[in-house]
Amino acid sequence: MALTIAIPRETAPQERRVALVPESVKKLTGRGLQLLVEPGAGQAAGYPDDAYQAAGAQMKGAPAELWGNAQVLLKVQPPTPEEVARIPSGAVLIAQINASRNLPVVKLLQERKVTSFALELLPRISRAQGMDVLSSQATVAGYRAMLIGASLSPKFLPMLTTAAGTIRPSRVLILGAGVAGLMAIATAHRMGAVVEGYDVRRAAGEQVRSLGAKFLELPLNAEGAGGYARELTPEEKKQEAEMVAKAVAEADIIVTTAAIPGRKAPVLVRKEMVERMRPGSVLVDLAAETGGNCELTQPGQTVQVGGVTLAGPLNLPSQLPFHASQMYSKNLEAFLGLLVKPDGSLVTDYTDEILAASLLTRAGEVVHAGARALLNPPGGS
Ligand code: NAI
Repeated sequence: MALTIAIPRETAPQERRVALVPESVKKLTGRGLQLLVEPGAGQAAGYPDDAYQAAGAQMKGAPAELWGNAQVLLKVQPPTPEEVARIPSGAVLIAQINASRNLPVVKLLQERKVTSFALELLPRISRAQGMDVLSSQATVAGYRAMLIGASLSPKFLPMLTTAAGTIRPSRVLILGAGVAGLMAIATAHRMGAVVEGYDVRRAAGEQVRSLGAKFLELPLNAEGAGGYARELTPEEKKQEAEMVAKAVAEADIIVTTAAIPGRKAPVLVRKEMVERMRPGSVLVDLAAETGGNCELTQPGQTVQVGGVTLAGPLNLPSQLPFHASQMYSKNLEAFLGLLVKPDGSLVTDYTDEILAASLLTRAGEVVHAGARALLNPPGGS
């Protein structure tokens, strides 16, 4: 019998994305797979039910028909406890589970004997790039954060020469130049701003410069033995902090994106630095969800501190749901490419490096070592 894949409607508040878009449904039904979609699943993202039906999906509203018949379930957000209870024992769940922050759900998946793959655990290797949901959704978040910054700013971004005078371009500073930061830089540059970027990884410098921005770095050679970077001396670290503080004070718009996987976000902009920012300047903190890169960020809110606007938006990819879903869907297609054999049956040995790295629970066990250690801390209860 054909493998059955189900796509429920996302239930998290403010979540507008859908795991698979009709274009991917069409490809999978074309391979002989059976696709069940909850009515309204793609509505908020701009994909109506009739587009799914035209792509060969069956719409199933009743939970027993949708979840109960699924061999593979695809989601954007982690499942709620109620949703886990609907997953048939032994079925496969593929979603962003944010395992380290969602241990009770991991435990429930284990107890229910669900085979779960957590997409945030995918290795950052070239072969996994097409499935890398962290990258695709960070691309959306970086773009969106820059647009929020631009719309909250009282200034133009580009230089303008008009009959009403000349306007100087805005200065935009991006702290953290990973996937989201680079997209924010590219977006600010396209809008005509003068852009600076900073990252602790010196390797990011080349990427920042290739996007037309200046990379903030100290005029020193931190190359140590064998071409690796050496640790900065305390004096150099102080100089680095001063350099970032000066750039913060001079910027019109700052987008912060610094993150350390599985940890609280590093604080880069302290209260005193916000006090020295220009009146009317804006800081958009993309790390609001994990504690914020700015000490004064309030997650989910936009606040005024003196003359400065601080925005701490949550779930930015959901604010651009059409393309965020399209990219997520492409990522899932690629992931399913590893999991579904050419004859339409499921792979059952997870020896592939990508499957092995992202496998969280299986057959009543928490397979992922990191999650297992968090659930059973040594000497803890
Ligand atoms: P992330 O979202 O975990 O962090 C964002 C950025 O913040 C990173 O560039 C990080 O270096 C920076 N950061 C951390 N602490 C900082 C601090 N104190 N000050 C300034 N910046 C700080 O990063 P993302 O975007 O997930 O990328 C992580 C790495 O993975 C990058 O090296 C990226 O090139 C690589 N990557 C590889 C892929 C692949 O080969 N499949 C796909 C995507 C990313």
